[in-house]
Parts: sequence; C-alpha cells; structure tokens
Amino acid sequence: MCGIIGYTGKRDAVPIIIEGLKRLEYRGYDSAGIAVYADEAFGVAKRKGRIAELEAELAKVNISGNVGIGHTRWATHGEPNDVNSHPHLGEKSRIAVVHNGIIENYKQIKDTLEQKGIKFVSQTDSEVIAQLCEHYYDGDLMDAVIKVANALEGSYALGIMCLDEPDILMAIKKDNPLIVGISDDGNFIASDVPAILPHTKQVHYMNDKEIAILRADGVDFFNMQKEPIVRKPETITWTMEGAEKGGYPHFMLKEIMEQPRVLKETIANTLMDGANKTAIDSLDISHFNKVIITACGSACYAGVVGKYVFERLCRISVEVEFASEFRYKDPIVDDKTLVIVVSQSGETADTIGAMREAKKRGATTFAIVNVIGSAIAREADYTAYTAAGPEIAVASTKAFSAQLVLLYILAIRFAQKLGTIDDAKTAELIAEINNLPEKATEVLDHTDYIQKYAAGSINSKSVFFIGRNIDYAISFEGSLKLKEISYIHSEAYAGGELKHGTIALIEEGVLVVAIACCPNLYGKIFSNVEQVISRGARVLFVSTEDTKQTDKLSLVKLPQVHELFSPSLSVIALQLFSYYVAANKGLDIDKPRNLAKSVTVE
Ligand code: G6P
Repeated sequence: MCGIIGYTGKRDAVPIIIEGLKRLEYRGYDSAGIAVYADEAFGVAKRKGRIAELEAELAKVNISGNVGIGHTRWATHGEPNDVNSHPHLGEKSRIAVVHNGIIENYKQIKDTLEQKGIKFVSQTDSEVIAQLCEHYYDGDLMDAVIKVANALEGSYALGIMCLDEPDILMAIKKDNPLIVGISDDGNFIASDVPAILPHTKQVHYMNDKEIAILRADGVDFFNMQKEPIVRKPETITWTMEGAEKGGYPHFMLKEIMEQPRVLKETIANTLMDGANKTAIDSLDISHFNKVIITACGSACYAGVVGKYVFERLCRISVEVEFASEFRYKDPIVDDKTLVIVVSQSGETADTIGAMREAKKRGATTFAIVNVIGSAIAREADYTAYTAAGPEIAVASTKAFSAQLVLLYILAIRFAQKLGTIDDAKTAELIAEINNLPEKATEVLDHTDYIQKYAAGSINSKSVFFIGRNIDYAISFEGSLKLKEISYIHSEAYAGGELKHGTIALIEEGVLVVAIACCPNLYGKIFSNVEQVISRGARVLFVSTEDTKQTDKLSLVKLPQVHELFSPSLSVIALQLFSYYVAANKGLDIDKPRNLAKSVTVE
C-alpha cells in the first residue's frame, strides 16, 4: 500500500526513481510523484494517475539531480489528485517527504501547527510529517527526524530530504517495510526488493525506529539516541527475470505459468535440509491442543484448505480466522495454541496485528511467508518460506499455490510426529506431493478449453462456485480471483447448502462453477449440479472424473490426484478461468481497481 523509493549516487536520480516506481506500482497506483535536489531548490513533479502520467509530466518540466525520492500512492486520506500526491513539502519547501503508512494523530499535529500559522495545502495525513520536520529543523536533520518519529502515532516508512543538507537522504520506518540497497553506483531506499533489483542485490531490511543516512558513497545506521548501529547487508536471491513479464501479456499469466516450478522449489526447500525443514522439525506439535490459521485474502483461503488437510491428517481441531477479525475478537488463545500466519508479503498490517495479539496471549506462532526479511518472517517464532519469488500481479496465484503445498507438508510432518499417520501413509502422501508439479504442468498444457469457455462468460452478472469438503475449501479462492480481476460478483458456497437459500438466485443462464475432486462425494456434488441445471444454470464442472458434456454442462478434466491435494490443480483451472474472463473484458488484470498488493493499513 503505497510504494516509496529513493536514490543518492553519481547518476541522475530521475530515471532510476521512475523505473523503481513502475516496479512498485502494484502497491498503489492512483497518483505518483518525485522530488530531487536541483541546485538551490527541490525539483518536484506530481501527477494523479499511473506512473505513465508522471512520466509525461516529467517530459515537460525536465528536472534532474543526483539525490531524489519518489512515491506511488494508494489513497487513504484525501482523494487522489496532484496536490495530495507525494512527495509532500514543508511550507518553506526546505523539507520533502515520501510516506507509506497512516499517521493516526495527524489531526492533532495539523491543528497545533496551523495554530502556529503554518499553512497546509493537502488533505493528507502525510503532509504533517514534512511540515513537522521543517518546523523542528534547527540545523541537524537527524535531530528533527527523531523528534518527528517521537511525535508520530501510527505506521510509517519515510524517505526524507532537506535542502540544507543536500548530500544526504534520510530514512526511518515503523510498522511498514523499508529496505536500504547498497551499490558502488549509489544507494537506495525502497518499499520492496523488485524496485532496486536491477541495481543491487545487497540490502538491509530496516528495523523499526532505526535511522538510515544515505550518501552517494555509503550508508550509516543509527538508533533513536543517535548511536551508530553496525549492520551487515543480506544478499537477495530473487532474479530480475522473476520481476519481468518475460513476453507474457500480464504478470498474472506469467505467474500462473510459473506454478510448476514454484511448487517444485517450495517442495524441495521444505522436504530437504534447510531453514524450512529446521523450522518444522523443531516445533513440538504434541504440545498444542488447538491450531488457528490466520491471514488475509488469498493467504487466508490457503488456510481454509489447510484446515481440511490438517484436521484430516492430524486429527487436531483447526480454526481459520481473517486476521482483521481475529485480532479484535478477544480470541481464545493460550500457550497451548499454535497460530499459523500466512502471508505472501509478510507485511499485511492485519496479519501482523493478529500475530502480535496471538503472541501477547502466549501462543506459539509459525509463519508461512514469501518475502525474506519481512516483518512477519522476523517476528514469528518459526518461519518457513514459500519459494514463489517476486509476485507482481495484485491477484495472488503462484504465492497461493506455494502456501498450499507448504501447508500440506506441514500437516504431513505434524501428523507423522503425532502418530496419526504411519510411515507407509507418510511415504504415500509425500510421493503424491512430489508429483504435483508435473500434474500442474499437465493442467497448464490444456488451457484452450478454459480460455474459450471464459470468453463466453464475460457477460455473467453473478457466478457461484460450489464444492463439498476440500472442493468447497478451494472454491473461496476461485470466487475471490474472479471478483478481484473481472469485477463480476461471485460467491463460494457449500454444494449441500445451496438448497437452504442460495438456490433462489439460480435462474436461466446463471453460471455455476462446480469443483468435484473428492471421489466419495462425487455423486452428491453431481446432484447439486443437476439441481442448478434444472433451474436454468449452466455449469463449468472442474473435476478429476469424466462426465458426459451437454449444452449446459462443460467439463475441465483434471489429472488424477489425491483428493487432499487436489486444490493445487483445481485452483489452476480457476485462476485461468478468471484470467481469461478479465482478459476478454479488456481489464487491467495486474492492477485491478481499488486493490493493492500489500495492504499495510487496517
Ligand atoms: C491483498 C492482496 C491479496 C492478498 C492479501 C494478503 O488484499 O490483494 O492478493 O492475498 O492482500 O496479502 P499477503 O501479502 O499477506 O499474503
């Protein structure tokens, strides 16, 4: 939610910042801006809309400089317009700030400053940071920044420049991500790795309330008492290819197609010696009498599938809670509770909040995260990493698949330790897991039919996703994908529950997507399919079983797979369906309206 980048070095900061902002656009895309030191003043350009609008503006105003900051916004306070775009400047235009986060006490600060005669120009919470910093500035930017950080309540990642100290770029964060990248050619701040990946793989993940002072030739870190901190950079393993479209029309399609490799790497990383295996092996599952999985969005729906797998294999009760609900519901959690948090970014505000709440109540936390060094990865008691690489499209696909397979392996290992499955069963299940990448490839080799069916579904007003048992669990993700990128209303429903109300919405032409990968429930879901067809619905049947196709019933046949792991295949068909519906509608698939990939606000 909002992306920031900054550069100081020998090169012109403007193209570096613009390129970085494009890589951060998934974090927000309603307006963008840039500020650089240009002689005695800031060169500033801000524009409502996508980065392309900002680029067009820059072509007219022609600014350049060796130190600069940039921002791409997802509006919280104040509508998206040029004035509310970042960077924000102090009244005297001596301080410029980019901000990711929310300042909760901005009104009080604004009132106090206005009483002192300071004039504000925007409706944002972020402008108070620039105004306050300028107000406090008395010849030492670090002093002013420390005072500002002490005054702010809420969350922030900040890039700050001061005209009186034109050779430095300062950064500080609290509860929002910020990395510092170092290279021989200059130094960077950014919200996320892809923004600076073309320039360096050496990064520092900043901790809360650490101050970074970047100069062209080096970076120094300090604590809030101005004492130096010694830090060693980490080396990023992500590659540039991972952050490029690689010939695909959209990141989402590329990321869907990458799933066999992502599954393979996540499986290998988790089954073989390494950090994931160590995390899993060192957790004593027999200590717990309850498991809670908490997360947001797709990550939470991976948890819904995880619940079915855990309960079936481990015979332990599992609850799944949206993190935004869990954290404020006075949850029943104690030191016998294992709380599994799932997050691609590792920085979702509600998931972090839920994890902290669980820890406060004595729970042990186990995180499944994609971004190394992220807040959740660092704060959880145990962390296992998905090997999805950078996921750029807002709608999650490959990260979701990696979360699923990691949850399966976690459940198998815990079941083994608990003695709820024997060695033979363990070996059988692990063999099934190892076959998933190849089966995923098979699904991806036959996309034509789904593509055609999706093209004929673009005028649907409402789509129902139904299933039973684990097929019901995966239907939530199928429904979310369609909503997110095609803007078609959809609902996930338990097949057996339809007749208790929702079937009233079925009429001529309504589309029902039925998932049927549980052999013992096949007959039952098929009855539900007949019930909706007889009321006029047409059905897309996603199944491991063959069935006779009719003008009302179309089949997407999946490879045979153990039913517990079938969501890994059915979800690919569902992702493709949503993708092609949105593509046929000509929508902005990678950046759907109103959404952002990393939701760092509540
Ligand atoms: C946003 C994204 C979703 C994502 C969710 C959780 O809503 O649009 O795609 O599933 O956040 O994100 P996380 O990074 O915690 O997995």
